[in-house]
Amino acid sequence: MKHNEALLKAEKFQQKMETIAQNDYWRPQYHIAAPANWINDPNGFCFYKGEYHLFYQYHPYSSQWGPMHWGHVASKDLVNWELRPIALAPTDEYDKDGCFSGSAIEKDGNLYLLYTGHVDLDNSNGGNDRIETQCLAVSHDGLCFDKVENNPVIKSLPENLNIKTEHFRDPKVWKHGDWYYTVVGVQTKEESGQVVVYKSQDLINWEFLNIMATSSVKENLGFMWECPNFAEVNGHEALILSPQGVKPEGNKFLNVHQSGYFLGKMDYQTGIFHRDSKFDLLDYGFDFYAPQIMQDEKNNRCLMIAWLDMWESNMPEQENHWAGMMSIPRVLEVKNNMIYSKPAEELSKLHKSKVHYEQVIEEATSFEGVNGDCYQLDVDFDLKNAQGFVLKLRVSATEETVISYDKDTKIFKLNRDKSGRGVNGEREVAIEPIGEKINLQIFSDRSSLEIFINDGQRVLSSRIYPSKEAKGIVFIPNGSMNTNIDFYQI
Ligand code: FRU
Repeated sequence: MKHNEALLKAEKFQQKMETIAQNDYWRPQYHIAAPANWINDPNGFCFYKGEYHLFYQYHPYSSQWGPMHWGHVASKDLVNWELRPIALAPTDEYDKDGCFSGSAIEKDGNLYLLYTGHVDLDNSNGGNDRIETQCLAVSHDGLCFDKVENNPVIKSLPENLNIKTEHFRDPKVWKHGDWYYTVVGVQTKEESGQVVVYKSQDLINWEFLNIMATSSVKENLGFMWECPNFAEVNGHEALILSPQGVKPEGNKFLNVHQSGYFLGKMDYQTGIFHRDSKFDLLDYGFDFYAPQIMQDEKNNRCLMIAWLDMWESNMPEQENHWAGMMSIPRVLEVKNNMIYSKPAEELSKLHKSKVHYEQVIEEATSFEGVNGDCYQLDVDFDLKNAQGFVLKLRVSATEETVISYDKDTKIFKLNRDKSGRGVNGEREVAIEPIGEKINLQIFSDRSSLEIFINDGQRVLSSRIYPSKEAKGIVFIPNGSMNTNIDFYQI
């Protein structure tokens, strides 16, 4: 089928499912989700012709993962996103089983999408189960995308490397000087993660530059590095990765796959990224994967959006013909040799009303007007005279999502054992109070929570599936606690 026809067919099918999907209570009210059916990774996050664009891995024919298309939304302000026509469909020999993840860049007024063409192979007699190559599509208006004739533009990896050639995906392109560079995720023959880097002057002809970063099996950094990003963050450089298969270390790395980063320095002569920090997570919650950054040159900041879900997790929304959503846009900042992520300031446009309280509390307390399912809750807990706190969100007679902190252990916990349908478990992270305070900024949507701690030093994100009655918020001090609350309905 021709690309145009495949796109139209997918659009039509998607529209059939829209009404059911959009009437579902769990549909996000201010996060990006597809009109219906399955989404995963954010792709092609960029600014083009006065708008932010975000594409996403999309299966328009069901709420399960399937042959990947690219869905598309655009926004002038990162807050109000408009649906655009589906951008890519897997119609060509080189991408027939999926237009996998990739990125976008503007060149000479046109918008280019660099993505992975995925082809499944029958490997019942041994051998590779897939071919992955890097492919290009171009648009003159940011609406319609044509695949270029030269596809695949990166056909294979050099042969003399210690790389398993079939896993070769998720190109993230950027410009440095006169050259375009792209990182691509690969796997070594011993099955550890690696990133390669290519360079090009025209986005069509690519030259292999080097293995940009690598890991050994001994390091517990997973068996494959998906979705690499090279990021410039307030004068620092970082390599952001989504390693598959990092094993749990105590209470860390409990998700199936992880997303995190190394700080370091890119040497453009050799193509080597010299890491100078340990791998750290970008989010300590249950649901956060495949983040993609964009350098927002207009505002001199590095933005990040991630898939607010996790592979192999329960997604009860699938029975209502949709699956998956994006995180809110976050702004990255390097401080104290680590990456902080904060909600983009534009999100304050979502505020409908505000209540403020400052009060010393000594027992379980709910505040009038501080409840709901779509809100931003900013709170400072002063622990001078308190040992810690418990904060219960999305509370009904039988449900609650529980956050807690203890001053002695310095452990912050998020528990979703009673959060509603389909999910459970606990995640935790060590938090140093600022002075004697813990500061939280919490974004709640119908089926998600994103919790930013101490100015974005740590973040925990989670999908939850409470009933629509679950709107209570209860503050429980362990001691006498000054509590300073700004609560915004969204
Ligand atoms: C990450 C990922 C990518 C791949 C895409 C397929 O979540 O596995 O590596 O390109 O999803 O949908």
